[in-house]
Amino acid sequence: MIKLTNIKKSFDETLILKDLDLSINKGEIIAIIGPSGCGKSTLLRLIMGLHKPDSGKVAIDGEDIIPMKQKDLNKVRLKMGLLFQSGALFDSLNVEENVGFTLKENLNLPQEKIDRIVNQKLELVEMSGRGKDMPSDLSGGQQKRIGLARAIAADPQIILYDEPTTGLDPILSTNIENLIVKLNKDFGMTSVVVTHQISTILRVAEKIYLLKDNKLLPPETPESIYDSVYEEYRQFIRGGLKT
Ligand SMILES: Nc1ncnc2c1ncn2[C@@H]1O[C@H](COP(=O)(O)OP(=O)(O)OP(=O)(O)O)[C@@H](O)[C@H]1O
Ligand SMILES: [Mg+2]
Repeated sequence: MIKLTNIKKSFDETLILKDLDLSINKGEIIAIIGPSGCGKSTLLRLIMGLHKPDSGKVAIDGEDIIPMKQKDLNKVRLKMGLLFQSGALFDSLNVEENVGFTLKENLNLPQEKIDRIVNQKLELVEMSGRGKDMPSDLSGGQQKRIGLARAIAADPQIILYDEPTTGLDPILSTNIENLIVKLNKDFGMTSVVVTHQISTILRVAEKIYLLKDNKLLPPETPESIYDSVYEEYRQFIRGGLKT
């Protein structure tokens, strides 16, 4: 359902990704790990069509999104939700307007229905009752959870999580991990989780990919990672990567 083929991406003169291939099946839940600055967020943006690769193909449900016109790309994007690393909320909109943004702007749902969905998503991320707050009134972890509520507002088939648990206390972190698994199990959401957090990888991922030297190493599982033939995987699971 998500297929990246022979991706190359650089910014100015700096090569970030090269010869990168990745296939993710429908309903799969994978983690992507790797040192800071190696290109994990860039990879998620490529899948979402927010960046274009210099060369290579990004196919979503068999459709190559690279040559698509903006209108068609927007349609494909509706299948996907992205939780940005920074939260990336709209500063001038309150929490409920942020969460309901796509429902209003892209799906044109009636306000009553939007309110119902927004409340339901806020409950899922344990932020009920905070709908009227402005993003600037929220802590980093709270902003992250609102970003998650926004990413899942339109019930996407694919959800891309960029550091979903970073900056959350251990209990909230576990709750978000449980939510990621629940969305995957109950709704079959295909999930790509970029994270540095070992607990998140072990709790949620079926497969783990490490980004190194501009491409992905062959995947491990939460069981196989301890005895990987690749030192980088073993190093990571023993206590995090050097960055
Ligand atoms: N829009 C951009 N313009 C120029 N350079 C960029 C842009 N986005 C990312 N980069 C560069 O690409 C590299 C990879 O960035 P990216 O954000 O994908 O890393 P990352 O693996 O997500 O790191 P982290 O774990 O710190 O979030 C970095 O060197 C970054 O400076
Ligand atoms: Mg990043």
